[in-house]
Amino acid sequence: MAYINEHYLKLKAGYLFPEIGRRVKAFAAAYPAARIIRMGIGDVTEPLPAAVIAAMHKAVDEMARRETFQGYGPEQGCDFLRETIATNDFQARGCDISAEEIFVSDGAKCDMGNILDIFGQDNAIAVTDPVYPVYVDTNVMAGHTGPANDRGEFAGLVYLPATAENDFTPALPTQKVDIIYLCYPNNPTGTVASKATLARWVEYARANQAIIFFDAAYEAYISEPAIPHSIYEIPGAREVAIEFRSFSKTAGFTGVRCAFTVIPRNLKGKTRGGSAAEIHKLWTRRHTTKFNGVSYITQRGAEAVYSPAGKEQVRRIIAHYMGNAKLIRDTLSSIGLQVYGGVNAPYVWVKTPGNATSWDFFDRLLRDAHVVVTPGSGFGASGEGYFRVSSFNSRENVVEAMGRLREKLR
Ligand code: MLT
Repeated sequence: MAYINEHYLKLKAGYLFPEIGRRVKAFAAAYPAARIIRMGIGDVTEPLPAAVIAAMHKAVDEMARRETFQGYGPEQGCDFLRETIATNDFQARGCDISAEEIFVSDGAKCDMGNILDIFGQDNAIAVTDPVYPVYVDTNVMAGHTGPANDRGEFAGLVYLPATAENDFTPALPTQKVDIIYLCYPNNPTGTVASKATLARWVEYARANQAIIFFDAAYEAYISEPAIPHSIYEIPGAREVAIEFRSFSKTAGFTGVRCAFTVIPRNLKGKTRGGSAAEIHKLWTRRHTTKFNGVSYITQRGAEAVYSPAGKEQVRRIIAHYMGNAKLIRDTLSSIGLQVYGGVNAPYVWVKTPGNATSWDFFDRLLRDAHVVVTPGSGFGASGEGYFRVSSFNSRENVVEAMGRLREKLR
């Protein structure tokens, strides 16, 4: 028999969302008449913007003709998309990012896991708590941690609590760490970081020669003008940060698959011997070896997100989801629950009533209201006693779900 990667055995039995799926499936089998409303996983419900559909149709037609047919594309992404991203998402905001620093991929989750391929085994790694579970689990898989304790915390990781007490702004690590995962707007808490907060992280990273993995998958949901959309809005971030972005939540691409990762040319790591190495070079090698690029049709669809019509359509879809978020916030506050987030992010983070545990409250909502949320403890020990409500849904479902919660929780 072949040997396995035993680090996988340290992981909790299931990834959070499949575990929720398992419980919901069991409930649905036991109560087939229940109309379950899913507000757990953040998966988009609204159709693709019309501009994206039109661009993809056109690209399909190009694939139908010998003269315009495309085979393998560049692994890092087509120039037309990389240029469009660099101009619209970065240069338009004053960020010094060029097209060759953009790597188009099939998902930010994949990139955030895969990026560990090019980093060594001895890095001290910090995550906020609660946290998007992928950051932790991929480090466990890569053998960067010891086993978990009974709070589910893995030995070797530095956990930075983000709670109501610190206004969901985790303190800087008191020790030196080499890699820091940040996610803003935050999944799961729906809170944001100000420029001053990000500037403190950049300063810490520069002082400690650390690298920040900055997950900005939800930047399109920012509504307050002072909130930064990219870490590269902070001076000096080019030398210390990798940014991960996605079309999933921005333009409804969860089922289409397109994302990108930004690696500035001047970002460096080091060898054990102490010599500097360009991260951009290593990632180019990794990406071009293990990945064949995103389909041409998808990249044409992604490009259309930045067209004038595409921008307007995306704006309307996001306004729809954020209208849901407001409804969720208003309803839950009106019945006396403490709510956070949901203003610059599609997630509302809520304190469970009566100090119920996250999973107990999850089970109660499923049983009594047939509404699925995400238990906060699934995101880490500091998420215990909270639950997350996703605003990705139809208005009709959100109205119905909030009506049920009002009735069952008052
Ligand atoms: C979530 O619900 O946290 C997200 O949908 C997960 C993801 O984007 O992978």
